[in-house]
Amino acid sequence: MNRAIQLAPVLAAALALAACAGEQPASEPSAEATTEPAAAAQAEDIATLLASANPDRGRRLYIQCRACHTLIAEGNQLLGPNLRGFLDRPAGSAPGYEYSEALLASGIAWTPETLDAWMQSPSEVVPGNKMIFAGIRKTRDRADLIAYLQRATAEN
Ligand code: HEC
Repeated sequence: MNRAIQLAPVLAAALALAACAGEQPASEPSAEATTEPAAAAQAEDIATLLASANPDRGRRLYIQCRACHTLIAEGNQLLGPNLRGFLDRPAGSAPGYEYSEALLASGIAWTPETLDAWMQSPSEVVPGNKMIFAGIRKTRDRADLIAYLQRATAEN
């Protein structure tokens, strides 16, 4: 009984999201590039989705990052920097890794919101950075991955 009451707001949020998804206009063939959702709305989405994100699913999605990044303490610098503890730090602060000037000058601090935008399109967030990655389209996938990174970079 209590549990059902606790779940109610979560369900309401899920329904609200489903409703939002349903509101998107049917895609018409057009020469215009698809319009991006407003940044604010997106930040809200990721915060909401994170509350119910699945880090175990995120662990499987991390396969897309593993070729270039280690997550363990003092893990090797591969093509990309070691990501241990990167959340809440300024971009470009893993010791011993040679970052691009673009990322060093970006002024970004890594939060779920900035990481979400970065994973969606690193080249748009920091033009000229050297992470060659097409981006993850689905907000749900990014939320699950962020939940996994939050867990994994804090472990051991
Ligand atoms: C092809 C290799 C490659 C892949 C795949 C890749 N990255 Fe990167 N990543 C890089 C490189 C190179 C940089 C350094 C960028 C720079 O200095 O401009 C970087 C930087 C980063 C940073 C900034 C770290 C810091 O210390 O500021 C984050 C966060 C990050 N990557 C997350 C991810 C995530 C999450 C994925 C998977 C969804 C991923 N990367 C996939 C190569 C990669």
